[in-house]
Amino acid sequence: MSTLEKIIRERRSVKPSLMNGKKINPSIIQQLLILADWAPTHGRTEPWRFIIFSGDGLARFSQQHADLYKNYTPEGSFTNAKYQNIIQNAEKASHVIAVYMKRQASQKIPLIEEIAATAAAIEHILLGAQEQGIAALWSTGGMTYHNSMKQLLGLEEHDQMMGLIYLGYSDEPSPPAKRNIVLSEKTVWKD
Ligand SMILES: Cc1cc2nc3c(=O)[nH]c(=O)nc-3n(C[C@H](O)[C@H](O)[C@H](O)COP(=O)(O)O)c2cc1C
Repeated sequence: MSTLEKIIRERRSVKPSLMNGKKINPSIIQQLLILADWAPTHGRTEPWRFIIFSGDGLARFSQQHADLYKNYTPEGSFTNAKYQNIIQNAEKASHVIAVYMKRQASQKIPLIEEIAATAAAIEHILLGAQEQGIAALWSTGGMTYHNSMKQLLGLEEHDQMMGLIYLGYSDEPSPPAKRNIVLSEKTVWKD
């Protein structure tokens, strides 16, 4: 396998509960952000934005995230397990990167393309992490998409939260690779 193929094929989503709390050197996080910054971008709007949490900042953010869950979840749906989970996930990760799409004022580029470009930037982070032996999860769980999260992180009305990227190290074997639909079913060749 080529290096790129190996990285792409072996990248797996690793839940923060499988991370071991070991810290990633901030210079590696910076390298991942530089990779993200080379994603394709229609109209060169470069819509990806990153808020990087670690250490006390991460502990504060996860507590705030858990509190949003508590404050905005109807009593019947709230579970203490999920509340604790949001906090504990961040204890096992080293860094969490909140990624959002910054909508350009002119809105000239179609929304879907700005979201697509930001997703491509996220994939660069995930592949860079894989290359560095870092476990990663692109999460949209908890309150990621709730308006209160936008407010907490200072997004503007037309910006779009894209996810929370949990990064850390793991001692566990990589989760099994699995695809449910064979590629041929997703592919049409017109020769
Ligand atoms: C937009 C997006 C959101 C995701 N959100 C979550 C999530 O909230 N929780 C989670 O466990 N995995 C999440 N995932 C990861 C998927 O579960 C994972 O990619 C899928 O199971 C395939 O596994 P793989 O990444 O190891 O190939 C998300 C993936 C994408 C693309």
